[in-house]
Amino acid sequence: MRNDNVMRTKIAGVGKGVPEKVLTNLDLEKMVDTSDEWITERTGIKERHVAAEGQVTSDMAAEAAREACRAAGVKPEELDCIVLGTVTPDMPMPATAAFVQQKIGARSIPAFDISAACAGWLFGLGVADGLIGRGNFKRVLVIGVELLSRVLDWSDRNTCVLFGDAAGAAVLVPSESEGQGILDVEMRTDGAQAVHLEIPGGGSVHPASHKTVDEKLHIVHMNGRQIFTHAVRNMSAASATVLERCGYKPEDVTTVFAHQANMRILEGVSQRTGIGLERFFINIQRYGNTSSASIPIALSEALAEGKVKQGDLLLLTALGAGVSWASALVRW
Ligand code: UT7
Repeated sequence: MRNDNVMRTKIAGVGKGVPEKVLTNLDLEKMVDTSDEWITERTGIKERHVAAEGQVTSDMAAEAAREACRAAGVKPEELDCIVLGTVTPDMPMPATAAFVQQKIGARSIPAFDISAACAGWLFGLGVADGLIGRGNFKRVLVIGVELLSRVLDWSDRNTCVLFGDAAGAAVLVPSESEGQGILDVEMRTDGAQAVHLEIPGGGSVHPASHKTVDEKLHIVHMNGRQIFTHAVRNMSAASATVLERCGYKPEDVTTVFAHQANMRILEGVSQRTGIGLERFFINIQRYGNTSSASIPIALSEALAEGKVKQGDLLLLTALGAGVSWASALVRW
């Protein structure tokens, strides 16, 4: 529960950076032994975007960042901090946030990455909320960006059909009104489940070598069923926690922005939380699973479509590798 002595934070503007190239299920049918029918029924995905050759993670992030700054009426040079969630950085070192800082023309402000996979943007939201709440920072850019197409095995139908590339970003500022803004953020990690979703190669456990490349250790390895179960259970539990702590009931929620990983996961979270699926914003059919970019992209589209209004109670929730998960409650 938040400390009442801290300042409340609000989202002042949201943006997205999406590669132009679209890969449909029909395209994938020509690449692996799969079908539009299987992908649609099992996941809800119809198409996803993939980055062009030469386009890198920080390019998409910078595009989303510029759009979020425009929407917030904040110039990049007025930002005080950049927090970036990704598991597909430009390179292991330095932080991708450093490249974004340079690309958007921000001052020499702190810029760092968070590794919480699909929950990365929500973890960033929690961190930014804390930084602003203590009065240290006034304008914090929170980015979720993923370029998963470069770490997928395009011959493995179990994973290559699921993910998409994209970035989403938001500018957080202090809220002038006590009732408006981020009401609560719950962040959790259960490292005992880490084994279910990994890119095992390239770190200290399996330093990059010809062998690690031959054994495909630099690509995504996932136990889909385990992640599915943890996603439904933990996203629902964290959502119930923030609702209860803030004194709200499921029926008070206007719209749910849940990580777009699988339509059946969204259905499971809807059932468990008791919030009807008609109150979930869904765009998985056009993006696939964009990991940490998923929620800010959904928010950006909902705002553009006029589907979020002042006073709405928004529930945000995500789970990814770690496993790490988070839920946030926002009064718009
Ligand atoms: O964002 C967090 C990270 N990831 C996730 O949230 C993903 C969570 N997990 C899931 O969404 C689901 O577990 C999947 C979509 C990955 C898989 O769905 P599932 O219903 O759990 O299927 P399954 O893995 O149990 O596979 C069922 C069958 C298998 O065939 P057999 O062994 O029953 O003959 C798979 O080989 O479906 C087969 N299969 C496919 N068939 C056609 C798996 N992928 C495909 C495919 N096309 N792309």
